[in-house]
Parts: sequence; C-alpha cells; structure tokens
Amino acid sequence: MNQSNLNLLKSQIDIDNLPKHIAIIMDGNGRWAKKRFMPRTFGHQEGMKRVVDIVEASTILGIEHLTLYAFSTENWKRPNTEIDGLMKILVTYIRNELDRIIENNVRIHILGDIAPFPQIVRDEIEKAIGETKNNNGMDLNIALNYGGRAEIIKGIKDILKDFELGRINLEDIDDQLFSQYLYTKGQPDPDLLIRPSGELRLSNFLLYQVAYTEFWYSDILWPDFYEDKLYEAILDYQKRDRRFGGI
Ligand code: FPP
Repeated sequence: MNQSNLNLLKSQIDIDNLPKHIAIIMDGNGRWAKKRFMPRTFGHQEGMKRVVDIVEASTILGIEHLTLYAFSTENWKRPNTEIDGLMKILVTYIRNELDRIIENNVRIHILGDIAPFPQIVRDEIEKAIGETKNNNGMDLNIALNYGGRAEIIKGIKDILKDFELGRINLEDIDDQLFSQYLYTKGQPDPDLLIRPSGELRLSNFLLYQVAYTEFWYSDILWPDFYEDKLYEAILDYQKRDRRFGGI
C-alpha cells in the first residue's frame, strides 16, 4: 500500500475509541517461507521485521498494551533447528531494537516461564525488562513459553499459597482478584485479538483474559502483516457493538 493510501486509512481511525489492549497470534511464518521454497526460520526472520513495524505503529497510534504470542508451551515440539532459530531471532530483536524501545517509552513484560530458555536468551530478556521497567508508555507483552492453561494453573497454585498463608480469604476470590494472579496482572483484558493466517482457533492464548475480546481474523500470513492490516483491524473493531453480556 502506498503512503497516501496508508495515511487515508489511518486518518479514519477514531483516536478516542482505540482498543486499549491488542493481542496478536503471529501465525503463518512457516507457510510464508514454504511458498518461497525457504526454510521456516526465514519466515520467522521476516516475521520479526513485522514485529518491529507493528510495535512502532502501535506506539505512534497510542495503543496502551500490545501482547504478542511469540512462543507457546507447545512450540517445544518443533525441530531443534527451528527452536534455536527462534531463540536467535529473539536475541537479535532485543539487541537491535532495545534503544528504540526505550526511546519510545515502551515497557517490556514477559508472559510465560522463560526458565527453560538458554542463559544467553534469558540474560538479554532480563536486560530488556530491567532497562524498560520505569517506562510508562505502551506495555509490550511478549508471550514466551506461554500457555493459557499453564497460566491459569499457576494462578490457582499462587492463590492457594496466599490462602494458606492467611493473606486472602475464600470470600475475597473473585474475577478481579484472580486477574492479579495472571501474567497480565495490572493490565486490562485485550479489547481486540488479531489472528492472521486463516486459522480460526485460540491456540491456548490468554484463555482467561479473552472472555469479552473482539476477534479479528485474516488470511494474510504474519510476514505480510504490515501496519495497514493493523489499521484495518482497528477500524473493524471500531464498528463493533460491545455489550459485555448486556443488551
Ligand atoms: C507461528 O507461525 C509463529 C511462531 C511460532 C513464532 C513467532 C515468532 C516471531 C514472529 C519471531 C519474532 C518474535 C519476536 C517477539 C521478536 P508458524 O511457524 O506456526 O507458521 P505456520 O503455521 O505457517 O507453520
């Protein structure tokens, strides 16, 4: 899309009705690479470039929370070469982008348990978290070794520990309190969930948080997901009538 059409599209967005929290299942990297007779990791590399574009576009637009599904608890089933490739891409992303992320006042959070990741990857992630922790612009949540069910089970265990220690009473437990035991603690639920690549499933992503989230699907593969697609998704979201179970 050329710049003037992009600007036209962007100008239609109602800035007063932006989704506060956008979550994205970045799918289709493998198929994108396959179409080009290239290894899957090539698709992930191109996918990383779209992460850069979408993070930048979201910041400029004023999105407050952006959550990206980068590695699920099920992704360990992939061949080692692909897992290694994804780890390297993560490190490259942080090394290349951290300065710009800091400049843009973005705060990085990780959703998931990165303990099984290689030390070098964890060091880079910890550095990014540390250096952005006082930023108060957009929250960039990167879901790594994340699974919705694992997150809920962890929440239940943590809440039981606090109950045993007498920190909370049984009557205190409601959906708001439980939300504070999830990785997205302190952040609102996603308003909009985007899934490119034509798949129509949740894939264990933010199971608790998406109760009233608006979904937006597209056949486009993630490496082709430029900022115009983000604007299209937001424009579509702005046409929805959100009733949260009311009338
Ligand atoms: C799903 O596509 C994509 C992933 C499992 C990895 C997503 C990772 C990136 C976009 C890399 C960069 C991320 C960050 C945060 C820097 P797939 O491989 O399942 O595609 P397929 O369904 O076509 O096989």
